Amino acid sequence: MAIVHAKEMLLKATAEKYAVGAFNCTNLIQIEAVVEAAVELNAPLILQASVAPSKFLRPEVIGAIYKTLAESAPIPICLHLDHCNDVAFCKACADAGYTNIMIDASKQEFKENIRQTKAVADYCHRLGNVSVEGELGTVSGVEDQVRVADDDAELCDPEQAMAFVELTGIDIFAPAIGTAHGVYKTQNPKLDFDRLEKIADLINGREIRVPLVIHGGTGLQPDVVKRLISLGGSKFNVSTDLKHTLIDTTYGYIAANRDEYNPGKIDAAVKAAIKEKINYWIRLLGSANKA
Ligand code: 13P
Repeated sequence: MAIVHAKEMLLKATAEKYAVGAFNCTNLIQIEAVVEAAVELNAPLILQASVAPSKFLRPEVIGAIYKTLAESAPIPICLHLDHCNDVAFCKACADAGYTNIMIDASKQEFKENIRQTKAVADYCHRLGNVSVEGELGTVSGVEDQVRVADDDAELCDPEQAMAFVELTGIDIFAPAIGTAHGVYKTQNPKLDFDRLEKIADLINGREIRVPLVIHGGTGLQPDVVKRLISLGGSKFNVSTDLKHTLIDTTYGYIAANRDEYNPGKIDAAVKAAIKEKINYWIRLLGSANKA
């Protein structure tokens, strides 16, 4: 019952003006920490794996872990493939049980982006319970195998956004509005709030049809996060924050306990630190008690 695709939970989030945390995980400890924290706060959850960890652990293994944890959890959980630019791998992950697939053909020309995104959307919709995220414009920074230099980042054109959504048949949409993957160079990155508002109005103004995704959550100030949600963002992606937490906690534990050789203790420290982060994000996004 807790296995769901993303669109279902995001329609509700958009209507009620909160966002569902979409947290990138690279290993089992992170996945367990994220699920436990969401259960404790009774929050809907999107677990994300980008292409590298999906290939390293294998889609079938991630799919099986997800199924086991989600089926017994009292909250809705979606498993999302993040930023995949390979149509065949998108299909393989959908076959393996991921319930939301992001085909990221945003570096392609508009027509080619539509062609690839539609191919994935058609495939996933034929499978049934799998929704699809597409991106228009490019988010700068590095997320796994996707790298976009600041100068090459292009914001999403609102008129094209409408056509993109209609021609591809995607379920959720990631418009580039100035957020970036990784660590922001300044505390107040330049975001195009007006652009987001216009896109939200064009796509969801009359009826909420295609929920909007905000990439690059790490480092955004709380008031900015809230403003993006109030303008229509209902899936909020966070990755770098969790990677840093994992690595800093591991280094910190080892530095303080140089003679300890019980890996379970490092895992426990990492799990506790990740849970604390997720707790922060879920409360900020307003998704506690929305399961
Ligand atoms: P951050 O790494 O900046 O949190 O971005 C995450 C993201 O957008 C994943 O798709």
